[in-house]
Amino acid sequence: MSDRTTLPQLRAETRGGVRWLVADNQPRLNAYTTAMWAALPRLIAEAEQEPDIRVIVLTGAGDKAFSAGADISEFETARTAAHAAEYDTLNNNAFEALARCAKPTIAAIHGYCMGGGLELAVCCDLRMASETALLSIPAAKLGIGYNPRWIKPLLAVITPARAKEILYTGRRFTAVQACAMGLVNSVHSPKELSDAVTTLANEIAANAPLSILAAKRTIDAFVDTPETPDLASLDRLVEACFASEDYVEGRRAFMEKRKPQFKGR
Ligand code: COA
Repeated sequence: MSDRTTLPQLRAETRGGVRWLVADNQPRLNAYTTAMWAALPRLIAEAEQEPDIRVIVLTGAGDKAFSAGADISEFETARTAAHAAEYDTLNNNAFEALARCAKPTIAAIHGYCMGGGLELAVCCDLRMASETALLSIPAAKLGIGYNPRWIKPLLAVITPARAKEILYTGRRFTAVQACAMGLVNSVHSPKELSDAVTTLANEIAANAPLSILAAKRTIDAFVDTPETPDLASLDRLVEACFASEDYVEGRRAFMEKRKPQFKGR
């Protein structure tokens, strides 16, 4: 556990084919410092480049928070009017890296998941929550104008009416309420969350990475640009599946009644 003498950090841990990225700034409820925002794209790129890593999980250390958002204690120095654009770029780069990640991503959410923390969670492909989770975007309670770029990923997950409810009220939603509005995929007891995330991550990790990539890019393209998805590039991803060793392996394993061993090529 981090204390006030430990520097806040985003830690990478590997468990089988799953890379866990753990926000650890526990004295401040795992709020993201500028260093943590900057580390995220780098850690995502590293995980993308490692063939044995099949799934990325984002979570928070300890039992109190996924993340209480941006570290407000830095705002006086890092997010002054003079540095606002720089700070927003750091944020955007982190959200983009997560949203555009070539591998499947899961947010494992317990405790507070607020502001930028919730934004990180909605940039993941899937969200699994503990019953302790409290999700909120308190911008309207703080007089913060919410960056339009960050509302788009929210609209990829929930309806405009729900997004408005979250942003207009700034209210904290429980895991069960969040699940009912589709903001999280599933709710688990605090003890079970980590195992449930591991089970799902392993299930995804055992499947063919190229099939998952084609599905991910296709779904995201239809959500991002519903009228003009780049079908030619999406078709190429599907063709890559049919041309892959994994497609041969998948067929063989089925005929031989065994589990396939996919390599992502
Ligand atoms: N940035 C920096 N520090 C934060 C923080 C943040 N986003 N969120 C919480 N902390 C710190 C608190 O200042 C407090 O520090 P202290 O012990 O030195 O006083 C510590 O974390 C614990 O928070 P506290 O407010 O005492 O806990 P709580 O359980 O009463 O309330 C929250 C928890 C999350 C509701 C409350 O801390 C909060 O509203 N945080 C801000 C969330 C937010 O607005 N995020 C969006 C940022 S853009």
